[in-house]
Amino acid sequence: MVRYRTADGKGILLVGDSRTLKMIPNRSVGVILTSPPYWVRGRGRESGLRYAKRLAVEHGREWNRILAPIGDLWIVIGDRYDGREWAGMDGLVTDWFRKTGWSLQAKGLWVEQPSKARWDDRVNYLLHFKKASRRSPPPRTTLCWQLPIPRAVPGGQWDATPHPVVRELLALSADGTILDPFFGSGTVGLIAGRMGRPWIGIERDHKQAQFAARRLRLTRIR
Ligand SMILES: C[S@@+](CC[C@H](N)C(=O)[O-])C[C@H]1O[C@@H](n2cnc3c(N)ncnc32)[C@H](O)[C@@H]1O
Repeated sequence: MVRYRTADGKGILLVGDSRTLKMIPNRSVGVILTSPPYWVRGRGRESGLRYAKRLAVEHGREWNRILAPIGDLWIVIGDRYDGREWAGMDGLVTDWFRKTGWSLQAKGLWVEQPSKARWDDRVNYLLHFKKASRRSPPPRTTLCWQLPIPRAVPGGQWDATPHPVVRELLALSADGTILDPFFGSGTVGLIAGRMGRPWIGIERDHKQAQFAARRLRLTRIR
């Protein structure tokens, strides 16, 4: 497996499919903060449901294994209008995570404004889960931002979550290693590093991983 690391060794990027996280021990991660690829194929509610189920089953089970008992899971996810109605992606994802051992502890929004995106592409939910038996105090602040979409990082394929959103969600979370299993251009690693926190990123697209490695000044481990 191709791997990259930061100069101080506190950040590591693994190139591969994050459905399997065998290399990460049980209960060793404090926070998972991630923005999965948004649901783009088939805009109907049925296909949104299949997407939510795959996320909870194929990824969520491994997340449950590696997350510390008091750990935090944050999912940043968009929604869609299918020509007749909104899919309600936040509800679909929450239902599937509930069925697979999680409880929703907080909910927020970041909305792209100003934006050139389609009107139904501008709403991004912030969903905060804990393992089903755990509770967390309500966040001190309302989790709501209206921000321009981050300027595309040249060479990056994906729109990143804005820095203030990532910073605040991490500040509200448990200590310990931060994992982003859909690393993209690496914003979660970038902010985690600036906050002095250890992090692990996983990205399956080699080009995207190379790009994130350059952006975060990582060195390839031979
Ligand atoms: C929406 S982007 C993440 C954006 C990210 N927050 C950023 O700062 O750029 C989703 C990323 O997940 C990656 N990805 C999709 N499926 C994956 C999988 N099974 N394992 C690892 N990475 C995956 C995609 O290649 C893409 O780069």
